Amino acid sequence: MKCSIQNKQHWICTLKVDNMFKFKTPSQKTREIMSKVALGELDGNFEQSCIDKIRTLTNHENVKITSSGNNSIFIALSAIEGDIIIPDQGGWHGFKQIARFLNKNIITLKTDLGLINTDYLEEIEFNDNSALIYTSFAGYAAEQDTKGIAKYCKSNGITTIEDASAGIGDELLGKFSDIILASTGSPKMINVGSGGFIAANDEDIFKKTSLPQKLSKTNDIICSGIDSELDNVKKNLEVTLNATTYLKKYIPDAIHVNKRGVNVIIPNDNAKSICWNLKQTLTTDKSGFITTCPNYNRVKQKAIAIEIKNLDYGCLEKEYLDKIIEELETNNLL
Ligand SMILES: Cc1ncc(COP(=O)(O)O)c(C=O)c1O
Repeated sequence: MKCSIQNKQHWICTLKVDNMFKFKTPSQKTREIMSKVALGELDGNFEQSCIDKIRTLTNHENVKITSSGNNSIFIALSAIEGDIIIPDQGGWHGFKQIARFLNKNIITLKTDLGLINTDYLEEIEFNDNSALIYTSFAGYAAEQDTKGIAKYCKSNGITTIEDASAGIGDELLGKFSDIILASTGSPKMINVGSGGFIAANDEDIFKKTSLPQKLSKTNDIICSGIDSELDNVKKNLEVTLNATTYLKKYIPDAIHVNKRGVNVIIPNDNAKSICWNLKQTLTTDKSGFITTCPNYNRVKQKAIAIEIKNLDYGCLEKEYLDKIIEELETNNLL
């Protein structure tokens, strides 16, 4: 059937109104708990419960709940006396902004499209008491070898700081670095719209940073949300990883195609216009499902990022993933 311009516009409008994909929100149970706490109908020591759960997940004894992920980064970088080593891409732009604000010397580390390669660490010169800060997944797309990085850094006197906003709850991530921190804002793996945490075995890190810690405020509502989301973080991460693995099977050109990740990044010279097209058909109730690179937080080359991690878990079912594949095929991305 021939589609007139009016029909096509109507079709696009209908999809836009219907919003095929839903953005992630805290689970129903988490929202109920948070509202009960807000209404004074439920109380308990939620902060302590969060701390106990994060201790178990990270294997780190000292834990503080903070007001945000950036707040946790601020605390962590305040504890470092030497240089701050930052990946050249695939990190979080707050690393550089905060290091700069704290007047730290920043060293940019060459990576393999965001993946830390210890051979490149050998090529750089740094002062004593320096730290490497990086995310559990390079650009959210590919898991880092956190164990290998931690081993190398330990024997070379570098403190490792892992931003595990996406990696918390995994068996291989968010465990081996000296400092583990995360955002629990939207739309992270622990998704309560606000807050974060920092964890370390070395008590000195906490002793040295009492002032920035004091600037961090949290409350029972946020802690009750984090506490509830922590119960599902392992399962939610697994569902997200499985969804991207399924997609990647159809997208051989995706970067780090054989690594686990929570988004899928496809290099393409026409990234901007393809992103625009995809946003018209893969509609969401909130922007941020399809993003365009170059972007320091993803990769520094033209590419399309499909942010699976931002979607409601109900939208990670096969039928939704197949719709994504269909649209990628229409745009010649497979
Ligand atoms: C990897 C990562 N770390 C930290 C942050 C900052 O978190 P917050 O907004 O809680 O300060 C973000 C925000 O998107 C992020 O993606």
